[in-house]
Amino acid sequence: MNPVITPTIDVHLSADDLRRALERDVRTGLTSRPKQIPPVYFYDDRGSRLFDAITRLPEYYPTRAERGILETHAKDIVSASGADVLVELGAGTCDKSRLLLDAMQANGSLRRFIPLDVSNTTLWKAATTLSAEYPGLEVCAVVGDFHRHLNQLPTDGRRLFAFLGGTIGNLDPGQRRRFLTDLGAVMGPDDCLLLGTDLVKDRARLVRAYDDDAGVTAEFNRNVLLVLNRELGADFDPTRFEHVARWNEADQRIEMWLRSVEYQKIHVSDLDLELVFRSGEEMLTEISTKFTADAIRTELGDLGFDVESMWPSEGDDFLLTLARRSGTPSAISLAGGPASVCLRS
Ligand code: AVJ
Repeated sequence: MNPVITPTIDVHLSADDLRRALERDVRTGLTSRPKQIPPVYFYDDRGSRLFDAITRLPEYYPTRAERGILETHAKDIVSASGADVLVELGAGTCDKSRLLLDAMQANGSLRRFIPLDVSNTTLWKAATTLSAEYPGLEVCAVVGDFHRHLNQLPTDGRRLFAFLGGTIGNLDPGQRRRFLTDLGAVMGPDDCLLLGTDLVKDRARLVRAYDDDAGVTAEFNRNVLLVLNRELGADFDPTRFEHVARWNEADQRIEMWLRSVEYQKIHVSDLDLELVFRSGEEMLTEISTKFTADAIRTELGDLGFDVESMWPSEGDDFLLTLARRSGTPSAISLAGGPASVCLRS
């Protein structure tokens, strides 16, 4: 039997960094028009529990659809990847990682697991549990942000970068371009990307997935106001904001907004910020972009990736795409990449 290897944890984000980012994001967002808050701030303890409840709602199909693909195809995915290292971006509790880890273990290729997440406590727990569950597996957890710390990940081995759950849909086109460019720049020729994306479908079904009958998504949406109250001394009254989920046809995305039910003044004491909400004014809290297989192929291709395989869920609700950096990254993909990132050839 393999010995249990003690996990390592590399911390690239301090509590101070997180605090500064929150202050900057909220100040910028709340003084923009329309007002907006990045979706990353949904996920405090309560928000994470609410999201977990969302994934079990009858209306919210993406989590089940993606899990279905992994249950059926994890073996094909890991053998196509040829990887011996799994990197999971935004790993959270590492629930989905297990399906890939199991498949890598089964084909004898599993050497190392590198979960990356902004939450130190969540990662630490997951890393400890996984080390015990997979004897012989090296777990090198990295506390960091996938927008900034991709170049801090250990580079040895053949790495499979998993970016699952449809989280890439939270990024607007400019943010996606930047993220994929940065990722392409740290990927070696033997590395590959496994990308989970939700697919465009019947509009009523899409909206229902973000506006469920039990009101869990509404609670999740309003939870961000409680986070701002607690973290920044704001005085939002969540009952004075309505949950709005709507399909933006032009940008092919679901948008979640919080609509002020009346004229109100909000004070954010830690930022020394006084805000006015007009009656009916909406604040953008999340975008969730939906894709087609063609759109993904084109977007990845433009940014220097070659799509190797695609696995749709039953009913074509969700898609997993395996891509590799193409031999010749296009000029566009190199422009705008951060200077700190070194290209490996
Ligand atoms: C975790 C970003 C994939 O966009 O579907 C679920 C988050 N928001 N219900 C998504 C979410 C509202 C989810 N992602």
